[in-house]
Amino acid sequence: MSNFKRDRHIMSQKREAGAAVVVTGAAGGIGGGIAKRLLADGWSVVATDIDSDKLAQFAAEVQDKRLITARLDVARSEDVRAVAASLQEREVSIAGLVNGAGLLQDVGPFMAMDETAQRRIWDVNYFGAVACTREFGALIIAGGGGSIVNITSINELRVLPLHAYGPTKVALGSLTTLTAGEFGAAGVRVNSIAPGFTLTPILRDKIAAGKRDVGAIEHATAMGRLVEIEEIASVASFLMSDDASAVSGSSIPVDAGWLATSYWMNFGDLLRSS
Ligand SMILES: NC(=O)c1ccc[n+]([C@@H]2O[C@H](COP(=O)([O-])OP(=O)(O)OC[C@H]3O[C@@H](n4cnc5c(N)ncnc54)[C@H](O)[C@@H]3O)[C@@H](O)[C@H]2O)c1
Repeated sequence: MSNFKRDRHIMSQKREAGAAVVVTGAAGGIGGGIAKRLLADGWSVVATDIDSDKLAQFAAEVQDKRLITARLDVARSEDVRAVAASLQEREVSIAGLVNGAGLLQDVGPFMAMDETAQRRIWDVNYFGAVACTREFGALIIAGGGGSIVNITSINELRVLPLHAYGPTKVALGSLTTLTAGEFGAAGVRVNSIAPGFTLTPILRDKIAAGKRDVGAIEHATAMGRLVEIEEIASVASFLMSDDASAVSGSSIPVDAGWLATSYWMNFGDLLRSS
């Protein structure tokens, strides 16, 4: 069979054969929403997170036999290798990976950045995705192909005053392009989803603590609103499906139009108010 035909049907064939998608940060808002959506789509899901209590709560809420959970600190390569080895031992076929684990950051002056905290953000947001791509990606390649989705941010595409977080997301976007180029011939597509301000529990907490200004965010988006978790999950579902069979190396913003209009206020919003 030519690569052309194989690549166009690979995800539905693997899903029907019971293959799984690994999701990191699956006990969190966006990761959890994506894991639930992939289960609803018919995938088996390996839900991983550093927080085993939240992961157990997630499993209790979901109650699905196709869900496997594993505690995983993505910043520890040895842990990532161990989870990958245990999946291999259990003969779980892996067709997809969602790199969703991430640490958010509060705004603060560059000179006041704590170096340890900054390095931890890099270890989780960037090197964690690198390790998972290497270990789980190897299983996807060995299985004949699949799809990898990196959760970046609008920070990937626009500089915001999040001094450690922002650069990690730019680097993750580069990793997407790089691995899409390298893995394409092995039947693996790699893409990023770049969420805008998304109503996850952690963002709700930051809003409640006065660390994010909802009115300003709503005003900055073309659609006048924030993003819901399900709206990120539906794009992940698409990228994990054969509907996206020729989509690779892309970054898809899901931001209610924030990238399109966030700077329009400089013009007095003449067009938007008319
Ligand atoms: N919420 C937003 O507005 C928003 C916007 C853009 C991008 N994102 C990105 O989406 C992803 C999820 O964000 P969220 O808002 O759902 O946050 P969240 O805190 O609810 O989810 C993140 C999850 O990652 C887990 N995690 C943290 N460190 C880990 C580690 N070392 N190993 C494994 N898991 C770890 C946490 O326990 C948590 O469950 C992040 O990558 C974030 O940068 C979020």
